[in-house]
Amino acid sequence: MLIPAPPMGWNTWNTFGANISEALIKAAADRVVELGLREAGYTYIVIDDCWSLRERDPKTHEIVADPAKFPGGLKTLSDYIHGKGLKFGMYSCAGVRTCADYPGSFGHEFLDARTFASFGVDFLKYDYCNVPVSGQAPLLYRRMGQALRACGRDILFSACNWGTEDVGAWIRSTGAHMYRSTGDIADNFKSMSGIATGQIPRLSQSAPHCFNDLDMLTVGMFGKGNVGSSGCTLADYQTQFALWALMGSPLMLGCDPRTMTPEIVQLVTNRGLLRINQDPAGLQAYRVNHCWGNPDCFTLARLLEGGDLALGCFNLSESPCGNLLLLEQLGLTYESGLRLRLVDCFTGEEQHSGRDTVTVPSLPPHGCRVFRCTPVKA
Ligand code: GLA
Repeated sequence: MLIPAPPMGWNTWNTFGANISEALIKAAADRVVELGLREAGYTYIVIDDCWSLRERDPKTHEIVADPAKFPGGLKTLSDYIHGKGLKFGMYSCAGVRTCADYPGSFGHEFLDARTFASFGVDFLKYDYCNVPVSGQAPLLYRRMGQALRACGRDILFSACNWGTEDVGAWIRSTGAHMYRSTGDIADNFKSMSGIATGQIPRLSQSAPHCFNDLDMLTVGMFGKGNVGSSGCTLADYQTQFALWALMGSPLMLGCDPRTMTPEIVQLVTNRGLLRINQDPAGLQAYRVNHCWGNPDCFTLARLLEGGDLALGCFNLSESPCGNLLLLEQLGLTYESGLRLRLVDCFTGEEQHSGRDTVTVPSLPPHGCRVFRCTPVKA
């Protein structure tokens, strides 16, 4: 199965943790459609950890959905989700037990893949807790990769070993379509900005068909939920969304779709940012420069299909900073005779660069600007 652009959807974990149910998933799926999120591309509805009984069926050894949480069973829920034009995602773990101590798939990979296929699953997140010492990440992810290929259904394989064992070096060999590269995100600015900046040196390890997953977004959580801490401001969430978009991360929402504010819906459906994230060329973003040597104030660039390029200017620091960018740093020399027409992805405002430089006005702490740029005759 080919996955040319970063997968998009919603996952239960960030807000709900173990507190999941059939009613919740149905309500979330309904809201994803009503809010226009499905139309924007958020198609995967993913149930994370804590969906099963604590033990496998003693006779068949299958993992069994908890009937108290999912009284209608997972196939019925899957049919409901598919009936809404959405796709159904689930969770298991390469270890003996999941991170929240439910049965893991170690030693049962092929059986579990068939079970997921029988539920009509389209996406499997595969975690890495409680792995026996005999287990090695490349082998265990290859095993589930093979099991999914043999299960008779196309299932997107979402690996989650948090960047351990140099995952970027071998994950493509497992058939995974996306892979977590860091520990768990928390709903505060430091956590999310640390995840993004930590992955800047690894931008070459994300490409079509296997994307570096910066974790489920905390955008819109405002401190409510399972990875809660202080929460963030709307401006913080804009910066998070812009970073995930430019860096080509999968976009899995983690807030409560039932209570999303209009500003958050507007942010996560921003057409300019989504177009950059989903750009068909899938090229590597790169860091152009730092502002006056400040590591928390920098510009990312990314070439886009059709000749445009994206520029994202970020200030992750606690004081204002501006930036001056030399076109030459983007490969556009003075003798090219070109300058840039820049369209601001948040405001739609248009401006032109000089022939040598782009001046980014002072950004407030935690602020960002993202532009879609077209090289034009100077
Ligand atoms: C790990 C993962 C999280 C989540 C939990 C569930 O911590 O990294 O994203 O799936 O397990 O227990």
